Amino acid sequence: MEIRIAENCGFCYGVKRAVAMAQKTAENDFTSYTLGPIIHNPQVVQSLADDGVRAVNSLEEIPDGQVIIRSHGVGPAIYKEAKDKGLDVVDATCPHVKKAQQDAKSVVDDNMTLVILGEKKHPEVISINLWAGNKGIIVESEKDAEIIPFVENMGVVVQTTFSQFKFQSIIGILEKKTKNLKVFKTICTATQERQNSAVELAKEVNLMIVIGGKNSGNTNRLAEVCRDVGCTTYHIETAAELEVAWFQGVQTVGVTAGASTPDWIIKEVIETMNEFEELLTAQANWDEDLKK
Ligand code: F3S
Repeated sequence: MEIRIAENCGFCYGVKRAVAMAQKTAENDFTSYTLGPIIHNPQVVQSLADDGVRAVNSLEEIPDGQVIIRSHGVGPAIYKEAKDKGLDVVDATCPHVKKAQQDAKSVVDDNMTLVILGEKKHPEVISINLWAGNKGIIVESEKDAEIIPFVENMGVVVQTTFSQFKFQSIIGILEKKTKNLKVFKTICTATQERQNSAVELAKEVNLMIVIGGKNSGNTNRLAEVCRDVGCTTYHIETAAELEVAWFQGVQTVGVTAGASTPDWIIKEVIETMNEFEELLTAQANWDEDLKK
């Protein structure tokens, strides 16, 4: 059985940076907290908790010490509240998200109507809108875009993980909704690169294993694009979920991982698949011997 790994997979730049910043805080004397789980990966969150970096849901739960802002970012009120409480802020907002927050603010400062393309409940989209004084119209779909009334000037900012395809189709609709359209294409290429690599690989293998948190949007999307090209796909969080029966008769298996999946989990999955292969080969040889 040949195991092939997607060219682009695993931790993206922003997540790698955020996890490294959180790990670094574990080295100092302060107690440190992440506001929400640092990334959508329960194993990484647990390993940080083991090192003393706890995830909390609000600043109220933090008595003192350091607060780490995760890669999705937060609104300006949180920085002020943390400062007022005397907390030390470690800002791990991904620079791509920071750019989207600033672009959204500039649209509102220029008195243009702000449209944010993204998932309404996603923390990143919420944080972008907060920097724009919550004045943005959030558009998730073509249907949402259709009902926007005509305005003189419109500025568009996009959730960093938004689909390229959907972006183009929605912009086509928004062009007819204003005289002056300014588009800040804040989509981050990491997501697209991971999806393209997954699709390429899924077309060439018998089976795809997608590794990442079940609550990770970008990992779920990777599994979706692999299934869309007709490849049998399993989405797992860790090697413990692999089943030997999946690999029976499989010649090539592809592996990809979401932007919040650490290398050590990918490594464990590959090691387990190699063990399965040895097991299946031994079983096949045994069956052959029995036939003789
Ligand atoms: Fe940042 Fe892109 Fe990752 S926005 S957090 S580098 S997916």
